[in-house]
Amino acid sequence: MSLVRSFYEISKSVCISSLTKPWQRKCQIVKPVYIARHTSTTKPLSEKKEVKVTFIKAGGKRIEAKGKVGDSLLDIVVNNELDFDGFGACEGTLTCSTCHCIFKQEDYDKLPEKPTDDEMDMLDLAYELTDTSRLGCQIIMSEELDGLEVRLPTSINDARS
Ligand code: FES
Repeated sequence: MSLVRSFYEISKSVCISSLTKPWQRKCQIVKPVYIARHTSTTKPLSEKKEVKVTFIKAGGKRIEAKGKVGDSLLDIVVNNELDFDGFGACEGTLTCSTCHCIFKQEDYDKLPEKPTDDEMDMLDLAYELTDTSRLGCQIIMSEELDGLEVRLPTSINDARS
């Protein structure tokens, strides 16, 4: 927002200093909100489609949460203030493996991107690793993933410790 504010101040001073020239008298001061609306490259959050995710804790308890298209599973856990002990300890920097999630095979097959080598390296350190394991911080929600079910392992390993 400070960039927008700076642009606003520059625009304002240019417009005011030029009011003595007749050809520039129609100059209007551009309001920051107008600039922000037309320079943003992302859709406002309110326009992004809502998606649902069901987390299944190790004991079988099901917890439904809502997020937006473009959120990671870690974002959804954080934004819904879900109390998953230790989940997402490295805040999505791919250094902990505490966001280990296990998917049903059909959901795993729907995930648009395959795990990177860095994610695979970190998954190797996760407890209860399965063929359909992924790191939640690397899973970005799309409309196709709406209704996803995510199983959490019994225990987590913080690879940093
Ligand atoms: S939050 Fe640490 S690897 Fe995903």
